[in-house]
Formats: sequence, structure tokens, C-alpha cells
Amino acid sequence: MSKFKILVTKQLPGEAVKQLRSKYAVTINKSANTLQPNELKKAVVGKDAILCLLTDKISKEIMDSAGKQLKVIANYAVGYDNIDIQEAKERNIIVTNTPNVLTQAVAEHTFALIMSLARRIPESDEFLRKNKFKGWRPDLFLGSELKDKTIGIIGMGRIGSIVAKIASRGYQMKVVYFDNGKIHAELDQSLGCSAVSLSDLLKNSDFISIHVPLLPTTRHLIDKKQLKLIKKTAYIINTSRGPIINEVELVKALQSKRIAGAALDVFEFEPRLSPGMSKLKNLVITPHIASATIETRAGMAQLAVDNIIAVLDGKNPITQVL
Ligand code: DGY
Repeated sequence: MSKFKILVTKQLPGEAVKQLRSKYAVTINKSANTLQPNELKKAVVGKDAILCLLTDKISKEIMDSAGKQLKVIANYAVGYDNIDIQEAKERNIIVTNTPNVLTQAVAEHTFALIMSLARRIPESDEFLRKNKFKGWRPDLFLGSELKDKTIGIIGMGRIGSIVAKIASRGYQMKVVYFDNGKIHAELDQSLGCSAVSLSDLLKNSDFISIHVPLLPTTRHLIDKKQLKLIKKTAYIINTSRGPIINEVELVKALQSKRIAGAALDVFEFEPRLSPGMSKLKNLVITPHIASATIETRAGMAQLAVDNIIAVLDGKNPITQVL
């Protein structure tokens, strides 16, 4: 057994953590609750590696508390806005994340949300359970088809590209995207999609799906001004990070039916819902589960563990951030 000490801030699905335990002294938070900031601060003391969740804020203070031997922070998420990256860089602490393994799960969940909106699944489910179904009717829960509709994808990285493929090849949708001015010639050619400005995407899409990381430049990327550009018949879907959308403005747009609907897997004040949200019939919500498949969550744990082992073995990590 090596001398390295590891903190795993929550029990994880799959077998990967066993591998860590066979090599190092591992402390796992086995409580049902995630660690509170003061608990995290104590738990990191003397650790060489931290395997943390997107809900663990890894600040300068936490790194101070861990001590100089801290070598690697392996985030159990692709997004790493919970970690002070600059601070870690200055201290030569390696930060890793879990891209690729969750791409398919998140893209598939995006379509679960799109279909829920388009075919009014949550509303119909509630209607039946409340015993309101009195027989087939030609106008009962009319929804909208995806074929030939335009999906506007904001962020054409790994997840955005798979969403584009499913939309185009599976649902026969027209795909436009905004990727901060970047053009993806190969996708344009194979899927017949095209890069547009953010405002054109908002004006012309029937479904708008967000796939960008949370950065100072993407916080409230969708604000009052942008919501005003969206068609009255269009829907917006967010599976990235809550603060990309100004939720107060979104709630107003949904309440006034300025836009047709929204589906959110992530929230600006997560885990809290913004006032008014839970009453909105034109809003579908899921509790940050886009990557929550058995395969993906085990894959994320394996990748985080592999990253830690690589760093502690003096090798390059597999998926280092930046
Ligand atoms: C991530 O990885 O960033 C997702 O939000 C959770 O899987």
C-alpha cells in the first residue's frame, strides 16, 4: 500500500473506488449528505488527491486546508466551475474532469426533455393520474412533431455535436448552431447544419438547446434581451449549468407565455427552484440527472479514479482540465 492519502467526497456507483482502496489510504464520505463546506475543509487535510463532486466548492481556502502535498483534484463531472482552476494552476495541482464518458447520456436526456415538451408527457401523465381521462379525443394534448423543425444548438462541443447528430439523423430536424463564432465544417457537411449568430439562432429555432460550460462569459448568456428574440412557439432546454439562463427572466417569459416552454435539468440556484417555477405547466424539470445512467455514472467514477492513479504514478492524467 502506498503512502498516498485520498479523499472521496461521496460514495460513487460502480467498482472503481475499490481500485483506489486497494492502492491507497482512502477516506470516503459515506453519509447520505454531501459534505458541508466546514466538513470538506477538515476532510481534505493531508490528502494527496481529492475525488470531488460538482457540488463541492474547491476554493483557495480548501486547497490551503489540504496542504502542500495535494497533487490532484479529480472532479466527478465534465463541468468544473466548482473548482478555482487558476488557484490550482498556481499551486501546480492537476485538475481533471470526466468528459466523453457522459456525452451520450446527456445528449439522450436532452431528447427526453425535448420529447417531454413536444409531446406534453408530464402534463398527460398528471392528467391520467388525476383520473381526468374520460376517453380518446381528437384534440387531447396536441403536441408538435420534431421532423422538419429547427433545433438551435448553443455550444457545439462533444455533447452539442451528438445532439446535432441525433436531431438530424434521428428526428430529421434542421440543425443550426452557435459556437462562439466557430465553424464545424465536417459536421456542416455531414449533417447539413450551419453556424449562425446567437441572435439568428434565437430568432429562428423551434427548439433551443444549451451545451456550453459555465464561465464568466456564459453566465446569463440567455437573459431578458435574448429571451425576447425567441419565437413565441419555441422551447428552450438547458442541460449544462443553471446560471447560463437568467431564471427570473425565464420564469417571467414562461408565465406570460412569451415563449412556449422550457425544460431544465440544471438550475440557477440549484438545488433550489426559483420562485414560481414549480407552478409552471409549460416547464419540465429534472433534478440534474442528464448523466445519470448506470453506465455513465460508473464510467465517470472509473475515469476519475484512473486520473488519480495516473497522477500519483507520475504519469500524465487522461483528461486534464485546460
Ligand atoms: C457534469 O458532468 O458536469 C454534469 O453536469 C453532471 O454529470
